[in-house]
Amino acid sequence: MNLDALLKKSLIAGDLSFDEIVYLLSLTSPDDIKQLTEIADMVRHNFVGDGIHIRGLVEFSNICARSCVYCGIRCENSNIHRFHRYRMPINEIIETAEKIADEGVKTVVLQSGEDPWYTSEKIAQIVYGIKANTHCAITLSVGERTYDEYKVMKEAGADRYLLRHETANPDLYKRLHPGMEFASRKKCLEDLKELGYQVGAGCMVGLPGQTIEDMAKDVLFVRDIDADMVGVGPFIPHPNTPLGNESCGTMEMTLKMLALIRITTRNSHLPATTAIGTINADGRIKALRAGANVLMPNYTPLKYRDDYEIYPNKKFITKDPEQVDKDFEVQLKAIGRKIAVDYGHSYKLP
Ligand code: 5AD
Repeated sequence: MNLDALLKKSLIAGDLSFDEIVYLLSLTSPDDIKQLTEIADMVRHNFVGDGIHIRGLVEFSNICARSCVYCGIRCENSNIHRFHRYRMPINEIIETAEKIADEGVKTVVLQSGEDPWYTSEKIAQIVYGIKANTHCAITLSVGERTYDEYKVMKEAGADRYLLRHETANPDLYKRLHPGMEFASRKKCLEDLKELGYQVGAGCMVGLPGQTIEDMAKDVLFVRDIDADMVGVGPFIPHPNTPLGNESCGTMEMTLKMLALIRITTRNSHLPATTAIGTINADGRIKALRAGANVLMPNYTPLKYRDDYEIYPNKKFITKDPEQVDKDFEVQLKAIGRKIAVDYGHSYKLP
């Protein structure tokens, strides 16, 4: 295959085939990777502009019924000497969201483990409470639920839903998620779309046993379901999980994935994730220059923050979120970008 021709196709139409994506994901020369990310940066500029959308994240419960083998808050992790399970009271979640809104952030993301204590009715109550007192868009990220539960939360006013597909290889999916199926994951994403949520999918990069072909499938999966948002970050081994001794996903592969998702999806929202900022000090800035256009600063109250340890050494866990923004704004300005002031709704809405 000819790299120059593929880069041209990436810029002009972005309709890459599976084999072409595999070829581009296999690039190893820093120069070639740089060219690919530069194309993604141009596509980002052309399709979603230079604004960076801020989503204020509240991790409101680290209690989880699932056993995902990579995740530090999996239910089997009972290392209570350095890890406490918590549930934020409903009022405190609403107050935290109001604080985020007061700072001018237009989207609140409410994320938790799959915690059955928060029934769809309770989450609806939270969404309703936030909507009554703020003008925020609300994104939920509370895992797999039934169509009817998603409906209750949507009717209460939720705008968006994040449910990463994690990997588009059904066998790998099954190995990583005991008792779960890729088909059910896909059904949840379809239900969410049908109910009118703006939907976020996404995957990890560099999972043990994940091949380049698997990652090419991830790129095509998010393109084919027409995801409004796509969260992509490197796998980071957590010591209290079965994958604790595996190696980390790399910066290069994560940037290539971001670039290819930008190129193929054109106008999706792509966050520069905390995970990429964790494996490399400049990770988030590099991600923003390889296709990303969203940041999700952590607004979880400090007393809970280090217990939401899905992977170790998670960055930005002690920093005051305001400070994160100020440091970052300086760096953003330096690369010609600015914080967007609108809601940052999906560009795919009719
Ligand atoms: N490394 C990187 N990302 C992880 N996630 C969970 N555990 C890890 C880990 N060990 C990601 C999953 C999940 C999101 C909230 O965090 O993709 O969907």
